[in-house]
Amino acid sequence: MEFFEQLIAVLQEQKPGDMPGENDAAVMELMASAVGRRRQTPQREPARPAAVRQTQPREPMRQMYPRSVVPATAPCQPAERQISPPPQAISPVRSIAPFAAATMEELRSAVAGCKSCGLCEKRLNPVFGEGNPHAELMFIGEGPGRNEDEQGRPFVGDAGELLTKMILAMQFRREDVFIANIVKCRPPLNRVPTSSEAEACLPFLLRQIELVSPKVIVLLGGVATKILIDPETGITKMRGRWMKFRGIDVMPTYHPAYLLRCPSDKRLVWSDLQMVMAKFGKTPPGRRG
Ligand code: URA
Repeated sequence: MEFFEQLIAVLQEQKPGDMPGENDAAVMELMASAVGRRRQTPQREPARPAAVRQTQPREPMRQMYPRSVVPATAPCQPAERQISPPPQAISPVRSIAPFAAATMEELRSAVAGCKSCGLCEKRLNPVFGEGNPHAELMFIGEGPGRNEDEQGRPFVGDAGELLTKMILAMQFRREDVFIANIVKCRPPLNRVPTSSEAEACLPFLLRQIELVSPKVIVLLGGVATKILIDPETGITKMRGRWMKFRGIDVMPTYHPAYLLRCPSDKRLVWSDLQMVMAKFGKTPPGRRG
């Protein structure tokens, strides 16, 4: 039953402008996993009595479905992507040591050979991150999706296209900034990385931050914000407020994938990004003088 519910949610979600590529992948992977399951378990489970089925408590949708698969009936609210176990379980991020690599290239090789968590088993390519290694502005997302996994580059799908537009609107070029993620390998079905996957990958991100040494970091979405800033507070409360991470100014904002589902919240993100622009002495056109 769970499979069909997931499939319906995936298909319902597949509407124009809603990250079609991501959903195609989710449908295909759901089908593939169902076929795999059937092959391995030819016997049917005994049917449960209807009365039992009706009284089974349901898990909230957001915890059951992977990223970009939000039930069609969901209101336009930033889904708090649940990290499991809650990121409070991560040894406080302050106490995690950065990976000891002298250069970005050394760090890249370490990421390529990393087997610290199970994500390396299913990924096609690690997604190290890219951009100016001395950027003043850094963006940190959650983790690679299907397109990123295929290409080994961050933010190259529909959400990435929107991120590139956001960067241009801020009067930077994409190659001027550095773009990274909390985890470097794609979580299967675009699920939220677990706390232990995030913890295993954090030393790489911490060293990236040290090497780039940006003036400002923009955190894209609730997962990055929970892992790096505050595991207890949701993105709705955190966005648009200056925070500090290891002495660096940090601006949390909504994830571009969320904006693809809820374009009306682009104006909130634009106001967050304008606060970042102001730190660089940049003014949006029409605001000058
Ligand atoms: N979403 C992310 O958080 N990171 C990517 O690289 C792509 C999509």
